[in-house]
Amino acid sequence: MGTMQTQLSFAPLAGIETEVLAILAVDQQTAKGSEAKPQPVLLTADRAVQAAAAEVLASGEFKAGANETLLLHHPAALAAKRLLIVGLGKQAKATVHSVRNAAGAAVRFIKPRGIRELTFALPASDPFAPAASARAAVEGALVGDFDPDTYRSERKDQSVQSFTLAAAAGADQSAVESAFAEGIVIGESQNFTRSLVNEPGNKLTPTILGQRAAEMASSVGLGWEVHSTEKIQELKMGAFWSVAQGSAEPPALIVLRYEPEGVSDGPVLGLVGKGITFDSGGISLKPGENMEQMKYDMAGGAAMIGAMRAIALLKPRIRVIAVVCATENMPDGKAQKPGDVQTAMPFSADKPGKTIEIINTDAEGRLVLADGLTYARQLGATHLIDAATLTGACVVALGHVNGGAFSNNDEFYAKFDAALATSGEKFWRLPLGEEYAEMIKSDIGDIKNTGGRWGGACTAAEFLKVFADETPWIHLDIAGVTWIEDSRPYIAKGPSGAAVRSILEWVRSY
Ligand code: BES
Ligand code: MN
Ligand code: ZN
Repeated sequence: MGTMQTQLSFAPLAGIETEVLAILAVDQQTAKGSEAKPQPVLLTADRAVQAAAAEVLASGEFKAGANETLLLHHPAALAAKRLLIVGLGKQAKATVHSVRNAAGAAVRFIKPRGIRELTFALPASDPFAPAASARAAVEGALVGDFDPDTYRSERKDQSVQSFTLAAAAGADQSAVESAFAEGIVIGESQNFTRSLVNEPGNKLTPTILGQRAAEMASSVGLGWEVHSTEKIQELKMGAFWSVAQGSAEPPALIVLRYEPEGVSDGPVLGLVGKGITFDSGGISLKPGENMEQMKYDMAGGAAMIGAMRAIALLKPRIRVIAVVCATENMPDGKAQKPGDVQTAMPFSADKPGKTIEIINTDAEGRLVLADGLTYARQLGATHLIDAATLTGACVVALGHVNGGAFSNNDEFYAKFDAALATSGEKFWRLPLGEEYAEMIKSDIGDIKNTGGRWGGACTAAEFLKVFADETPWIHLDIAGVTWIEDSRPYIAKGPSGAAVRSILEWVRSY
């Protein structure tokens, strides 16, 4: 993780001595058509800052487009060495999520230029509520600071060493302070997830993922257990083991527990993550092209581990348990074969495990999650959420824009949907239904692990639903959103940390 130091300042902007003072601007232009000209306006009440920027804003060179940047040296009458203006786009569309991205864009502007210190001025006007903006800004700065080039002998981008958020002194001061502290936890947790997802399969085996989760858990005071083959077999996790049996690397069953003092009844939220540290497809081997990307097939598990870090530090008044099923999916003499029939983990002695006909060994995520969901219920989870890079079909449907979401309970899903407004992440709900269930019926056993060519994201979700049973459950398919293909002004290309913020926000809504 980066070494960025973060602090909050309530000093007047003009007097702040800093390498770069970043200030936000919106485009106030409302007219349409060829006559329309951008009208960039700074989001500050500071007269000295306005004066320093007046000439360049009048020039028309800067349009205040989203994440557009403009740098001025020696801004007149300011203690700052440079003034960086960052656009939020059209005023009517700018939100607190634009502020998050703009802070990331400011950090990513200075990083490759060798500047290591930045002061970011919080917007001073509606609709940017000070506390929410403070949180978003520091989240965005931390997320922007992350670069994936950890194994370069000479790293291209060095971390920004110091980030100061400059907020207006006033009535909101203590709310801003606590939101800022929250934002640090959230941004760092998202980056922790990203650092795990970024690791290649040889450096992050299931065992090492278990160690990283355990170290993190100990450092933030979570309970934890990491089991391997023996326990997986003892629990009769036949679906999880059917994937793990084909790899020379032992699997890891990672359990993290958050049990706040004095909360001994009420709901227990169960977070279940797919932790395939490399997905070759198994005997149903994937084509070679792009196979290297399948190192990120543990991103759902990593999202749960990152969310648990944030939960431990932000201390909501509810019990949360995370189960991550980590294994490689490999072809091997011992690997399972298409046509094999596996028996999933039994929930209890009088509820035997479902039998699963393996049609395609590349549909392994749903197998490990099946037993993960059952185990989470057995450990007492009353509400379930899972995250997984589950299907290419979800990427075809939603592209790299929205994650897929599914639920067996509308009321329950509404809580997650509400959390998205705070997290700023995009998920789109997709359907479940009898017809999809029909598509995964097996001739030889209870269900099969693929449902044919069409509706692949829905049949995969329908498969998982069987193992959620009657428990309210949400499934997040993050296959398309967990890896950013092209760098954006506010975030590097590579792991995104998708779902961490939404899961956390959802947990905190209890
Ligand atoms: N991990 C993949 C899904 C995936 C694809 C994630 C692309 C990220 C990007 C998953 O295990 C898989 O292989 N799914 C198959 C299922 C099929 C065999 C029914 C798929 O989507 O092709
Ligand atoms: Mn697969
Ligand atoms: Zn997979």
